[in-house]
Parts: sequence; C-alpha cells; structure tokens
Amino acid sequence: MKDLRGKIAFVTGAASGIGLGIATALAQAGVKVMLCDIEQEALAKAVERLKQTNVDVEGVRADVSLKDELAAAADAIIARYGKVHILVNNAGIGGVGPYGLWTEAGWDWTIAVNLRAVVWGVSIFGPLIEKHREGGHIVSTASIAGLISRNSLPYNVTKYGVVALSEGLRLELAPRGIGVSVLCPGFVHTRIMDSMRNLPERFAAARPPGPPPVEGPLAERLKWMRDRNDAGVDPLYVGELVREGIENDWPYIMTDAEYEPVIEARFASIKEAFDRIRDRTPRR
Ligand code: NAI
Repeated sequence: MKDLRGKIAFVTGAASGIGLGIATALAQAGVKVMLCDIEQEALAKAVERLKQTNVDVEGVRADVSLKDELAAAADAIIARYGKVHILVNNAGIGGVGPYGLWTEAGWDWTIAVNLRAVVWGVSIFGPLIEKHREGGHIVSTASIAGLISRNSLPYNVTKYGVVALSEGLRLELAPRGIGVSVLCPGFVHTRIMDSMRNLPERFAAARPPGPPPVEGPLAERLKWMRDRNDAGVDPLYVGELVREGIENDWPYIMTDAEYEPVIEARFASIKEAFDRIRDRTPRR
C-alpha cells in the first residue's frame, strides 16, 4: 500500500509498547487508527495523548483472546470509520515458564493471546478488508523467537505459529489485493516483562504460586531478560519500520541484526540435515 494517507487501521495491543509505536507511526502518516487493548485505562490515556497531536484516532477495549470481543471491536471500527484497510495483530504476552514450571493454564493463555487471536483477527478482518476492494495489509507481530527457539518455549511455539500463518497467508491473500507482513522484533523497550498484569481471570491458574525467585538460574534468566528489554530499541522506531513495511509490502520486518548469526546457524543446521541424505535413494 504505497499511499497510506486517509487509510484506516486497526491495531491490537495498542495501549503500550510496540502496538502504541505502530499506532503512532501510522497516525503520523495520516492513517486513521482504532487502537484496541485489554487495558482500559492505559488505552484511554494513549488515545488522549495521540489526539493531542491532532491525529485521527479512537480506542476500543477488547480482550483479543475472546472472539466475541474481537468481533465487537471490528464492529466498532466499521461504525466509526466505515471501513478498514490495515490490520495489525500485535497484542501479546511474554508467555509462561520453562519445562518443569509451565502449566496447562499458562500454555492456554499464551496460545489464546499470541496465536489464536491472530487467527481470529485474520478471519474477522480479512473479509472486511476484501469487501471495499481498495486493497489492504495485514501485519502480525511474531518475534525473533518465531525464527529461533531457545528459551520460553510456549512463547516460541506461538511465535513460530504466527510466522507460519503469515508466510502462507501472504501467498493466499496476494491475489485478493491484501499484503501480509510478519514483524519479528529483537529486544524492544516495552512492558512485556510485566505481561501478568493482563492475565484474564479464566486463566488465573497461569499465575506462578509465589513471588518470582530472587536467586538461582530462573532469577538470573528473568533479570537478564528484563535488562535486555530495558536496553531494547524504541517502540516508535519499530512502528516506523512497520509503516515502511506496509508501504513496500515487506514479507519480514526485522528491527535489528543481533540474532542474524543465530538464525544463519539454524539454517546451516537444516542444510546439513539435507546434505546428510542427499546421495541416498529414498525407499518408497
Ligand atoms: P507490552 O506489554 O508493552 O504491550 C502489549 C500490549 O498488549 C499491552 O498494551 C497489553 O495490554 C496488550 N494485551 C495483552 N493481552 C491482551 C489481550 N488479551 N487482549 C488485548 N490486548 C492485550 O509488550 P510489547 O513488547 O509491546 O508486546 C507487543 C508484541 O510484541 C507482543 O506480541 C510481543 O510478543 C511482541 N514482541 C515483543 C518484543 C520485546 O522485546 N518487547 C520482542 C519480540 C516480540
């Protein structure tokens, strides 16, 4: 979508971090933006602050892990702006503990917000974008953890899912005039480490039983992650990259090259697996 001015976008997880950065960058480019988030107060503040900069934005509260709430939010953008061109599936949570500490409820919550809601977003908004025949774009926020899996396995599983969904959708939606990009950020300075603040009651069992550990490998890992997040890139910079990605129909939107060697090593390992069997005649 070369000319974004006057287009209409729906951004989930827009009250904080990357979502707010994307909403801001789009609004500054003349896009009318409906910000969607589970956190009412933060959402109201974000919308108010953006409105002060003279951009055309509104807010709608929804828990994207509930399909009915996401569908109601879609109704709200149509009621307000009449149509929608851009969907940004960005709402997400950090996920729950490593092997041995993960719980059923933790997996359910992580999958519901990080993956199921993205599928619902596409199902609900895809037909709305197609309807006006002006074209559109879908961006979904995965992560570098959608391309390499090391720690935080429930999180990584959902992010690989978002990459797979986006890669396949890009082929299926191109003939329908809809571009598809997947955003794979490295560390970004946001509130992701405080994701528990948005734990819906129905997943309450995902909450760890006691306070976070203060020593030991898990405490060190959490501290490392928090430090890395604090030193992460600016969410508005990420938002500007997303705007550029939509304008130029980038399949992948990266935010920095820190993990490029790790991803190359993964590809090399996959290639080695092919090399190992290359000269064999498959048995059929
Ligand atoms: P954040 O915590 O600052 O923002 C996430 C937003 O999503 C919050 O406003 C939160 O209220 C909202 N949210 C959470 N659950 C929701 C639900 N059920 N329904 C609606 N809204 C909900 O965190 P951040 O980092 O901005 O996260 C945004 C996306 O970026 C996530 O998908 C995350 O996995 C991804 N990401 C973040 C990275 C980072 O270093 N911060 C790196 C790679 C990916």
